[in-house]
Amino acid sequence: MAPFKPNRVVVIGTGAVGTTTAYTLLLRRRMPELVLIDVNHQKALGEALDMNHGMPFAGGVKLWAGTYEDCRDADIIIVTAGASQKPGETRIDLLRKNISIFRDIIQKITKYNSHAILLIATNPVDILAYATLEISGFDRRRVIGSGTVLDSARFRYLIGKHKEIDPRSIHGSIIGEHGDSEVPVWSLANISGGIELGFDDETREEIYQNTKNAAYEIINAKGATSYAIALALDRIVEAILSNEGAVLNVSTLLNNYNGVSDVFLGAPCIVDRSGVREVLKMPLSEEEQALFQQSAEKLKAEIAKLDL
Ligand code: LAC
Repeated sequence: MAPFKPNRVVVIGTGAVGTTTAYTLLLRRRMPELVLIDVNHQKALGEALDMNHGMPFAGGVKLWAGTYEDCRDADIIIVTAGASQKPGETRIDLLRKNISIFRDIIQKITKYNSHAILLIATNPVDILAYATLEISGFDRRRVIGSGTVLDSARFRYLIGKHKEIDPRSIHGSIIGEHGDSEVPVWSLANISGGIELGFDDETREEIYQNTKNAAYEIINAKGATSYAIALALDRIVEAILSNEGAVLNVSTLLNNYNGVSDVFLGAPCIVDRSGVREVLKMPLSEEEQALFQQSAEKLKAEIAKLDL
């Protein structure tokens, strides 16, 4: 019998997103082993110690501050490390700073692991997920960006708030860049699988703007976003480790998808233990299709400037 190997998740980066994600995974007992890694090892040690003191209340998770060697037995490696947006900065503005950090991180991971799923959250997430695929040489199904899972949640929350309906009963998708060119798929948004929203143009525009600008609003108010992205990452981890086949708008390498190829963008993907099993085609309206292609062109132009 093969020796028992518990599921292990590694979180790289113990800033606001990394620590909140780790804490969410811990509270929901997603995996028996959770490792925190940070260039500032002291910070990772402090966070691990603080969380470990809660084990008598939470329990069931072996958690420690580790090194890249701990990636060896990891099933999922979540990368949250890097500079985050300051007030007024776009996600694309972070690319220069974060690409070199990323090269280093991905090379360190792949030294020890070639089988895990790499789940990227650092911004600009779609471009850094693309870079991760190039640097790691991993199978495309196992390099996943958090994509527009969070944006879709914000969209559903805002629609639900407007309708006074639980967001879990709202179906709605944001696709494309996790950022300023993201696309709301109004043509397919509905209540409970098919009931029309009945919004006028003004309401739609307001909800779209508030969805797209949510991170700017939160960063202006509290300096960083953390809780909702942590829950989005937790949801993706759950779909992978439980082999769910859940449909989530993660960022994946697109190949002839609504006229778009060779770029990572958020789109509805079947997520299971293999990573992204399949990208599902959406019957987009002409306008949505055009906006999606513009989003792809924007990111491709940025990727072309990189020396990958
Ligand atoms: C946000 C960051 C994670 O949208 O990009 O909250």
